[in-house]
Amino acid sequence: MCGIIGYTGSEDVKAVLLDALELLEYRGYDSAGVAVRDSGTGEQRVFKCAGRVSDLRMLCAAEKFASGCGIGHTRWATHGGVSDRNAHPHQVGRVTLVHNGIIENYKELIADYDLQEELQSETDTEVVAALLNRFYEGEPHEAIKKTVAKLRGTFALVVMFADQGDVVYSTRNVSPIVATLCDEGAMLASDLTALCRFTNRYFVVPEYHILELHADHIALCDLDGKMVEPEYLTVDWELNSAGKNGYPFYMEKEIMEQPDAIERTIEGRIRSGLPDFSADGVPDALFTDCERICIIACGTAMHAGLVAQALVKSILHMHIEVEMASEFMYSDPVIDEKTLVIAVSQSGETIDTLEAVKYARRRGAKCLSIINVRGSSIARESDYVLYTNAGPEIAVASTKAYTTQLAVFYLIVARMAYSRGVFSAEETQSFIRELQRTPDVMKKILAKRRDIHVVAKRVLGAKDLFMIGRGLDYSILLEGSLKLKEVSYIHSEAYASGELKHGPIALITQDTPVVASVTQEKLMSKELSNIKEVRSRGADVVVFIKESIAQRLEGEYEVVKLPNMQDEFMVMPASVALQLLAYYVSADKGFDVDKPRNLAKVVTVE
Ligand code: AGP
Repeated sequence: MCGIIGYTGSEDVKAVLLDALELLEYRGYDSAGVAVRDSGTGEQRVFKCAGRVSDLRMLCAAEKFASGCGIGHTRWATHGGVSDRNAHPHQVGRVTLVHNGIIENYKELIADYDLQEELQSETDTEVVAALLNRFYEGEPHEAIKKTVAKLRGTFALVVMFADQGDVVYSTRNVSPIVATLCDEGAMLASDLTALCRFTNRYFVVPEYHILELHADHIALCDLDGKMVEPEYLTVDWELNSAGKNGYPFYMEKEIMEQPDAIERTIEGRIRSGLPDFSADGVPDALFTDCERICIIACGTAMHAGLVAQALVKSILHMHIEVEMASEFMYSDPVIDEKTLVIAVSQSGETIDTLEAVKYARRRGAKCLSIINVRGSSIARESDYVLYTNAGPEIAVASTKAYTTQLAVFYLIVARMAYSRGVFSAEETQSFIRELQRTPDVMKKILAKRRDIHVVAKRVLGAKDLFMIGRGLDYSILLEGSLKLKEVSYIHSEAYASGELKHGPIALITQDTPVVASVTQEKLMSKELSNIKEVRSRGADVVVFIKESIAQRLEGEYEVVKLPNMQDEFMVMPASVALQLLAYYVSADKGFDVDKPRNLAKVVTVE
């Protein structure tokens, strides 16, 4: 997590840093800071505070810096609480530094180098600043080299030395840094979001290299001083200039954008009614040569994987596992050259997923990624990429990224079934026709959002809530439940309905609302019995149900009817309904829907 920016050039440095930090704020938003050096006076000053970038803006509103260089940071706290003191940049002696990552051996370093006296914060970062200052004798490269040799953990470090003029230095291990030289000067950042305003050309700073930013050039070398030519890439990622488009929160805007996002995701990947990945450069051999599939992802992206798992089992009858990326490497996974690994990530920067992809490829697996952010780290590390084309997702709670991930999975499953001879051409075309109905079906559920708002008021006061369903409904509810907890702070648990009586039903009382999802016709009768079981224990039950079967429950329960699709596709309208439920609960409670407490949009620490 944490957003980093570094800049040197002719522009108003304070403005460049603050604007960039605003764009990077989704990486962490508990505190923010900048260090700015005025090239005229040589004066270097640090401004930092707990709170948002808007607070930092106010803090340094009166300061004027003609030009020069600077570094900035938005923090997601790991070591040390949220406070002004723990905010970055940290300054020790001649060193001013920002950091993204975790230094695992910071305590040993304090002891080994007797650094305690020099520290004012509780952060691991300040220890790096102190160590770097200890090693610094006027030679930045020497000091950086000595310092990184002592660090254990992940780090993207950006440094200014008090006596090195308008030069910004950087080095990294695992945590990402991208950089560019453009008309306005040289800059680096944790991700492209902050650079796109200036240029679409960038390069990835290689691990364990030292980057120097000068106003008119960039120098990159390895730790032994050997110069390296940066490998520039271009990106066609556009920033969303339309802002919230009149919606009070990005989450609502992004929920509403889903029909268009799905259309963008699938259009161009359907030819003669069949799924077609030739424009993405993904060959059929990837789907025909594998014996098993392993999906790796975190959070919402993993939930998209669970839906895919159910589809692969029922349609392809193949062996498939969904692995939490954070557990993957430590679970001795069965991965070999016959495994197709599918990594799913909105940001393409989630560190656990990134490391899992590297691990799987080392074991000989081919990796196909489903990614939203173009040019991101996971995209670069994968053999093949299918971009979701959802457009920038700003709200921390993922919505359109999830449903576009699902859309890509439908295309993959159809292409696999077709290329492996499981589906005939006609069967594949019919499956794809149903997928193409999704945008219109989503529009129908979005048009009924007021009904969901009414239902949301029923659960507003709940402390705990259960979501129950079977089969694909259970997979959808895992995501619906995550959505509700992250934005509304209601403790919510998704449970496979049949499991409920093996323990958790003990928690059902009249104060525990239950949300049930009933979209799978073949499982309906059993599901209705489970709903009755919780109802007879006093629970207030709200049922999201496929329209064609809704008459079985109407009058008896509070029912939200979901427009009809074939059962395998009902996850699409159901997930939109559950997103709206979470959104309205959060908005009605008066929370900052887009920036829930303790969270960050991109999780770049393990
Ligand atoms: C969900 O709303 C969260 N934003 C979170 O679970 C997210 O899906 C997870 O951190 C994975 O992120 P990624 O898709 O960017 O890898």
